[in-house]
Amino acid sequence: MTKLTRLDKLRLRLEAQNACLGWAFGQIENMDGPVFELGLGHGRTYDHLRTYLPDRDIFVFDREIDCYEDCTPPDDRMFLGNIDETLQSASKRFPRKAALVHSDMGSYTEAHNAAMSAKLSRLLPEVVAPGGLIVSDLPLAMDDAETLPLPPGALEGRYFLYRAL
Ligand SMILES: C[S@@+](CC[C@H](N)C(=O)[O-])C[C@H]1O[C@@H](n2cnc3c(N)ncnc32)[C@H](O)[C@@H]1O
Repeated sequence: MTKLTRLDKLRLRLEAQNACLGWAFGQIENMDGPVFELGLGHGRTYDHLRTYLPDRDIFVFDREIDCYEDCTPPDDRMFLGNIDETLQSASKRFPRKAALVHSDMGSYTEAHNAAMSAKLSRLLPEVVAPGGLIVSDLPLAMDDAETLPLPPGALEGRYFLYRAL
């Protein structure tokens, strides 16, 4: 097989991200609870979430605001700070309440990703509702969640889907 270039990998990740989010929107239709966006970044996936889930309370987590101006979340929807602390605050305000968490916290470095996966695996079960979904760019290891197969249009291993038990 031809080697996958960085461009190929980016394309596959974005295709998988889009397919997983689209699938998740349908799955949570009859579920109450807020949606959490972990990693505002430039605001691309936040824009996607607010467009496709216009009636949902969406809370966004990042240590900084560095997004397209028209993708800046309202102040009262932003958990600004290090994810260790902000997810712990969110778990007190919304204990096991989120219907969907989209976690897009990966970077280019393996060390960051390994540490972030471990951190999120520990913290996310405290905020996701039973039956709620986690759509993640990084693989997670959580006892209290089942791993789901990816929907059509997403290649296994390019994104990760979990349902909280
Ligand atoms: C891949 S980007 C998010 C991309 C975004 N979802 C988009 O579509 O534009 C990852 C984000 O995670 C944030 N981040 C990384 N480590 C963090 C940490 N420890 N606490 C809070 N935010 C962090 C970075 O600031 C960055 O904005």
